[in-house]
Amino acid sequence: MNLLIFLGTERDSTPPHPARLGARVARACARRLHAAGADHETVDPLEIDLPSPFKPHFAFAAGKAPRQLDDLANRIRTADGYVMVSPEYNHSMSPALAHLLNHFGSSLFAYKPSAIVTYSAGQWGGARAAVNMRTFLSELGCLPVSAMVHVPKAQEVFEENGGLLEGEDADRWDGYFDRTFSQLFWWAEAAARQRAAGSREAPGAFKKDPSQRNAP
Ligand SMILES: Cc1cc2nc3c(=O)[nH]c(=O)nc-3n(C[C@H](O)[C@H](O)[C@H](O)COP(=O)(O)O)c2cc1C
Repeated sequence: MNLLIFLGTERDSTPPHPARLGARVARACARRLHAAGADHETVDPLEIDLPSPFKPHFAFAAGKAPRQLDDLANRIRTADGYVMVSPEYNHSMSPALAHLLNHFGSSLFAYKPSAIVTYSAGQWGGARAAVNMRTFLSELGCLPVSAMVHVPKAQEVFEENGGLLEGEDADRWDGYFDRTFSQLFWWAEAAARQRAAGSREAPGAFKKDPSQRNAP
């Protein structure tokens, strides 16, 4: 099983700005995936040069997209599922995460599951961002599993390396993450089996004509 963790922050964290909280939450996710034996990689938006002005991967002619965009498209295509780690911005999902994901066609994500992991420096853990992430990820084709992870006051829970700070209840936190990730594994395995069996061809994505989405 091969999973991609998307880190939803590109905030400037050079000193004296505070470190990106999302980095530790993504590392905490990686630790739990590792403990479960799942292969995983993290995609950090700060490491991807996105074209400016905005031009999504699918708008480039074949072979003409910037290399980094092509590489990421391939990683998305070959992943079995996704972990979407997001802070909350104005009660919505991270604009950095939405912008990054908007560069790729839904056909790359489709028929695979995703897990929603949100966090905050305050007490709500990004729960309001998680609500509209369901809509976003469903439209993208990577259906979110029902369980979600929300981490309030992430700076008081995780160390920079993703380990728990002293005094935190490891069993409860591990169980909390594992509940969501075990759903992710279940669906990812089921989808992979279905793809391998080829018993039912996946309906094609709407690619060219927006009117294909119209009601009759
Ligand atoms: C424009 C803006 C809007 C924000 N809105 C919210 C919000 O609605 N709820 C919340 O809990 N935090 C909000 N925050 C705080 C961020 O979620 C917080 O800074 C978080 O640590 C950002 O993630 P990062 O540290 O990984 O970059 C907002 C921050 C900014 C800059």
